[in-house]
Amino acid sequence: MEETVQFTLNGKSTRLTVDTDRMLLWVLRTDLGLTGTKYGCGESVCGACTILVNNEAVRSCQTTVKSVQGKEVLTIEGLASDGALHPLQKAFAEHDALQCGYCTPGMIMNACALLRRTPRPSLPQIITAMEDNLCRCGAHSRILPAVQAAAKEMQGAI
Ligand code: FES
Ligand code: FES
Repeated sequence: MEETVQFTLNGKSTRLTVDTDRMLLWVLRTDLGLTGTKYGCGESVCGACTILVNNEAVRSCQTTVKSVQGKEVLTIEGLASDGALHPLQKAFAEHDALQCGYCTPGMIMNACALLRRTPRPSLPQIITAMEDNLCRCGAHSRILPAVQAAAKEMQGAI
């Protein structure tokens, strides 16, 4: 059923009249043109569609639009600020933490949620947090140091 929902999307108040049982992934990509959030499995298995809702990582392929009513939604498009890449985006580039890049937005958003709840994660904490985001190119060995480097930069350590 079509209803109006209101939420904050990448810092801007957003009102949409849509079938609120639709999954947010498709509203972001199809209705709003925010194609940085990727479709991988559609079953909450791969993490390609990860975004933040109220600072927590969620899988947008299994998140209904109505469930984000009144909440803060952050996608990869909202991460850079004032034209400056987020430390995670910089670190992924500097550590060559991708090959095809398809998993990268979901990886970065998942890591973003980790660093918001645990600003100084240990390597085991990073491994645990990132292990359910899949990379078909096998870039995990470069993704982990990228997350470590971003955490250090965000602490002012580098
Ligand atoms: S597309 Fe959502 S978890 Fe794979
Ligand atoms: S870089 Fe290709 S899927 Fe991860």
